[in-house]
Amino acid sequence: MALHVVDHPIGQDLLLSLRDKSTPSDAFRQLARRLSLVLTFEATRDLATKADTVETPLGPASGHRVATEIVVVPVLRAGLGMLDAVLELLPMARVGHIGLQRDEETAVAQKYYAKFPVGLSSARVLMIDPMLATGGSAVFALDLLRDAGARDIRLLCIVAAPEGIRTVEAAYPNVHIYTPVVDTALNARKFIVPGLGDFGDRLYGT
Ligand code: PRP
Ligand code: URA
Repeated sequence: MALHVVDHPIGQDLLLSLRDKSTPSDAFRQLARRLSLVLTFEATRDLATKADTVETPLGPASGHRVATEIVVVPVLRAGLGMLDAVLELLPMARVGHIGLQRDEETAVAQKYYAKFPVGLSSARVLMIDPMLATGGSAVFALDLLRDAGARDIRLLCIVAAPEGIRTVEAAYPNVHIYTPVVDTALNARKFIVPGLGDFGDRLYGT
C-alpha cells in the first residue's frame, strides 16, 4: 500500500480552490503552502521519536521529540511552492534541489540542476513535486536520489494521474506517494485532466 490518498476535508477544500482557474498567483501560492502542510503531517506520521522531558511552570512533563534526520528535496521549479510548508513543520530539515523541466513537445524531463546534502542514506527524504503526470520527472528524480544514497523516500504531490502512479510504483515500489487526489487521465499534451493546469506557471505567474 504505497499510495496514500490524503482525503482530509481541509485539504480537499484547498485543492478545489487551487484548481479554480480564477485563483490568482498570490492566492495560489498560499493555498499550495497550506495543502502542503496537510500532506507533510501525513507523510511524517511514522517518524521515529525519542523520549524527552521539559519543565512546565508546574513541574516536569515527559514527551517525545522527532529523532529522524529529514532531507526535503523540491523538484524545481514547481516543488518550491511546497517547500516553505515542510520547513515550517520541520525547521531542522536539510534541503536538496533537483532541477527538471519537461520538454514542451515530448513531455520528457531533462535535468538542469541537482545538489544534495550529505547523509542521504540515513535520512527520511521528502521529495516534493506537486504534479505527478506521466511519472517521468518523478522517476528521473528518484533515480538521482537513489544514486546519491537515499533509501527512505516519500513523494508528496498535489495532483497525481493514474499513469504517473503506475510508473513510480513499477520503478520504486517502496516509495510511498502522498496525494490528496488521483485524477482521471492525461490529455494529448500529457497534462493532468481535470488537474489544475501548469503548476509552475500558476505559482509564478509566467
Ligand atoms: C512539472 C511538475 C513535474 C512534472 C510532472 O514540471 O512540476 O515536475 O511537470 O510531469 P511528468 O510526471 O509528466 O514528468 P515542469 O517540467 O513543467 O517544470 P516546472 O516545475 O519548471 O514548471
Ligand atoms: N505539469 C503541470 O504543471 N501540470 C500538469 O498537468 C502536468 C505536468
